[in-house]
Amino acid sequence: MSIDRTGSGSARPLLELIDVSVSYSGGAVRALQDVQLTVHEGQIVVLLGVNGAGKTTTLSAISGLLPYTGGSLDSGAVLFAGQDLKGRNPAARVQRGISMVMEGRRVFPDLTVDENLTAGGFTRTRAETAQTRAQILEMFPILAQRRRQLAGLMSGGEQQMLAIGRALMQRPTLLMLDEPSLGLAPLIVEQIKNYIVDINRQGTSVLLIEQNAAVALAIADYAYVLDGKTVARQGTGAELLADSSVQELYLGVAADGRRSFRAAHDERRKGATS
Ligand SMILES: Nc1ncnc2c1ncn2[C@@H]1O[C@H](COP(=O)(O)OP(=O)(O)O)[C@@H](O)[C@H]1O
Ligand SMILES: [Mg+2]
Repeated sequence: MSIDRTGSGSARPLLELIDVSVSYSGGAVRALQDVQLTVHEGQIVVLLGVNGAGKTTTLSAISGLLPYTGGSLDSGAVLFAGQDLKGRNPAARVQRGISMVMEGRRVFPDLTVDENLTAGGFTRTRAETAQTRAQILEMFPILAQRRRQLAGLMSGGEQQMLAIGRALMQRPTLLMLDEPSLGLAPLIVEQIKNYIVDINRQGTSVLLIEQNAAVALAIADYAYVLDGKTVARQGTGAELLADSSVQELYLGVAADGRRSFRAAHDERRKGATS
């Protein structure tokens, strides 16, 4: 009998990183060393780490974007639904069911909300795209109200919802999000969190990168902490929330001086009771 160490119950592995090592600049900069990470079907898995820890690099290794950023997968493998993704370009990985919301909400600013969504469905037929877009507009009323608006004129929170909607246009089995709460107000962060939970409940597995550990761990089935180029800690969301080093690093003030969600939350509570 094996002990369940990934909060997975009996679910099958959807995504597996096996001893993944990545470097940049022709091997001069080592970014990841022997990273092991698994997302089981139906899970929300969170990847924590301070700035520069290698979180975005991990997603690039999965999405196939590494070669486009000057990076290379030096050793190890990325398996999706049991198949090695080696040699598959980013579009092929999207087609296989892996969608990503990139850091910094990269919507197309000069396209409308509708046009951004259509662009997101680029591997799908026109009929599929129209159907999925209708579902996404239903899910995000704010986007439905702004269908003809240029994305660049929307607020940060609205753009983030559009970026998520655009990624969903592919009907992914795995949705990856790179710091979706960065720079957004606590109320919007809460909304985005609820959307991620909804998307997951509807059957999409999630790999979420966050510095907002309090928010992310609260919804995580399982979580990994990257430190020193590799996985330094892992456990269920509850286990990591209780971990003193995680509390110190991620639940106080973030390493780059930004206030974490928890700090802002505590401050609001104090304000509310005084
Ligand atoms: N395109 C790149 N070229 C060279 N070095 C890079 C590149 N992207 C990231 N790095 C380096 O790799 C390490 C991990 O970066 P990154 O994955 O972006 O971290 P995180 O997303 O956790 O902040 C950092 O030391 C960073 O400077
Ligand atoms: Mg990053």
